[in-house]
Amino acid sequence: MEINNLFNIKGKVAVVTGGSRGIGEMITSGFLANGVKVYISARKAPALIEKAKELTDKYGQECIAVPCDLSSIEGMEEFTDLISQKEEGVDFLVNNAGAAWGEPYETFSEKGWDKVMDLNVKSMFFLTQKMTNLLLERASLEDPSRVINIGSIDGLNVPALETFSYSASKAAVHHLTRVMAAKLVKENILVNAIAPGPYPSAMLGSAVNHDYSEIEKRNPRKRVGSAEDIAGLAIFLCSRAGAYTVGETITSDGGIVKTASHNLS
Ligand SMILES: NC(=O)c1ccc[n+]([C@@H]2O[C@H](COP(=O)([O-])OP(=O)(O)OC[C@H]3O[C@@H](n4cnc5c(N)ncnc54)[C@H](OP(=O)(O)O)[C@@H]3O)[C@@H](O)[C@H]2O)c1
Repeated sequence: MEINNLFNIKGKVAVVTGGSRGIGEMITSGFLANGVKVYISARKAPALIEKAKELTDKYGQECIAVPCDLSSIEGMEEFTDLISQKEEGVDFLVNNAGAAWGEPYETFSEKGWDKVMDLNVKSMFFLTQKMTNLLLERASLEDPSRVINIGSIDGLNVPALETFSYSASKAAVHHLTRVMAAKLVKENILVNAIAPGPYPSAMLGSAVNHDYSEIEKRNPRKRVGSAEDIAGLAIFLCSRAGAYTVGETITSDGGIVKTASHNLS
């Protein structure tokens, strides 16, 4: 046992969905900087290809763009086929791509449910199902493969915004994580979820006009999350250090969920 080298993930192969920006880019950066080859996906090909090139140059480690739409079964199959052509196996799958939808209760639309539930929940299940053979290639009792599902503190707390389908989808992600963990742990694939709090991104930025000052003021840690925060947690879960953690949903929110009632009183 190398207890002085618990977070080493060098030489592994990872897939990060929605890796072109935001939280997906942050986790990808952490993997690349620590010697992992990373496949990133997103729908907008030019931005994705540009990002893969930028990150490869920055970290001197291979980052490969695979443009695809993960909201359809065909898109997921194409994506998985492409990875299978390039790799015999995959060590880490990070199901990060997600969508949010805000609309007043009175007019909240069916589209706002279908888009969010399809991408955030259904695609997470089907992509993992389709990539299970690739994950199994790298899975052993001593060194299991890992799946990280990106949930949200909105799936734990009641959010302030009118994002009914989004918060329900994220609660579903957290429970799906436990259900899938129970199935896949038998195959040496460990499934866990991260529930992020506020991280600067296109998604959060559009909800607050890219002004995070109020969010920072209210946060127990007085700031939004950074690449180090979310990548650090992902690396923990993927390394030897996280090999006994199964089916968990771990918050990364500066303390919002666990200290909210204390801070209010
Ligand atoms: N930022 C936060 O504060 C926060 C907090 C809690 C949870 N989260 C969760 O973290 C995850 C990432 O969010 P983010 O804030 O980083 O959002 P973001 O900046 O909007 O990034 C979303 C990523 O997903 C990709 N994507 C969206 N739809 C896709 C589809 N159908 N197929 C393939 N890729 C798709 C986007 O690229 P394209 O648009 O090119 O497809 C982009 O790369 C989400 O699951 C979100 O719910 C975020």
